[in-house]
Amino acid sequence: MEPPRNGVKAMDVYYNPVRAIWGPGSFAKLEEVLESLSSKRIALFCGSRSFKESGCEEKLLPLISRYKIVRFDRIPSHPDISDVLEIHRQAKNYRFDTFIAIGGGSVLDMAKAIKAASSLDLNSEEDLRKIIGTSDFQPGHEAIVAIPTTSGSGSELTKWATVWDKDNQKKYSIDHPALYPDFALVDPSLTYSLTLRTSVTSGLDALCHAVEAYWAKESNECSRAFSLTGASRILVGLEQLFHQELKEEARNNLSLGSLNAGYAFSHTRTTACHAMAYPLTLRYGIEHGIAVTMTLASILLYNLPYLNDQKALFAALKIDSPNDLQERVNSICSRAGIKTKLRDYGVNKEELAAIAAECFTKGRMDNNPYLLTVEEVNHILHHIY
Ligand SMILES: [Fe+2]
Repeated sequence: MEPPRNGVKAMDVYYNPVRAIWGPGSFAKLEEVLESLSSKRIALFCGSRSFKESGCEEKLLPLISRYKIVRFDRIPSHPDISDVLEIHRQAKNYRFDTFIAIGGGSVLDMAKAIKAASSLDLNSEEDLRKIIGTSDFQPGHEAIVAIPTTSGSGSELTKWATVWDKDNQKKYSIDHPALYPDFALVDPSLTYSLTLRTSVTSGLDALCHAVEAYWAKESNECSRAFSLTGASRILVGLEQLFHQELKEEARNNLSLGSLNAGYAFSHTRTTACHAMAYPLTLRYGIEHGIAVTMTLASILLYNLPYLNDQKALFAALKIDSPNDLQERVNSICSRAGIKTKLRDYGVNKEELAAIAAECFTKGRMDNNPYLLTVEEVNHILHHIY
């Protein structure tokens, strides 16, 4: 007979190869990082506004004069497959050895998508669609240094890039083990100049990463420890944002919380909240961080019987019930002037059934421990209407 294992599996795996350097001032390590990579030909991916406002542009000036850096600074939020193809065409002849990506999730995802495509000869959007949904392609060899200027997407720690296909109303993941960044410099001081709204929406996205990773089918002791630390820090940070004297501390907590959430969901991926959010963003442009949070408390209710340790999760979230979580999230959103109901975003009630049918993203919805039916998803959409 097998000896009792006190609930610990005989064997499990946690893997994340990203070398993260975090804390205020960690951006200054960039030069050292480039030296360790022996970087010569560098592409810089950045958002034109966030790059300036985060203070990165000024901090990078001495480096820019020393290295040959080609800048790609027209990265839209929610990059479309057509944007990836356009930048692929511009970048492919440079033979870069290093990509520095400074920005929010869209910028980081763009750098990964360009690496995925860099050794391929892509001539059309259709060529690009072919590598999506498969790992059967060879990405380029560029090193990626990811430097997030928001605390939310977690893209600096994952091996996938989200790309949107607005023509076909779809959201894709380009997913390959070679797409893990080599380095992540997670410096909260780059987020000090963010607006309250962006800090809240990106923090809510990170909160969902932490909580969804907690209950995801692939979670284990190690990823759940990251989830709990992440969820707790993020909620503390979100609430500190509303106190002028705590603004920097708030962003330090959000940064470290998001880092923990990233380590958690890089292992597990996300679940029903993210699956339900994609059609809301595609159809109505609801910001990702808001769309994912709308359903968090409802999905928690369905997942209660499947939680590894309900007490631990509730303690991290400082709640006694799913309803408490809804109230905490609603209170944060209302103080930041963020609407939390579908009707606030021009959604028509007659469209809810059609939206429900679009919520079953493979790899996300079926990663939820409780398998929701279309009727249940429709019911949740009515609840948040
Ligand atoms: Fe997300």
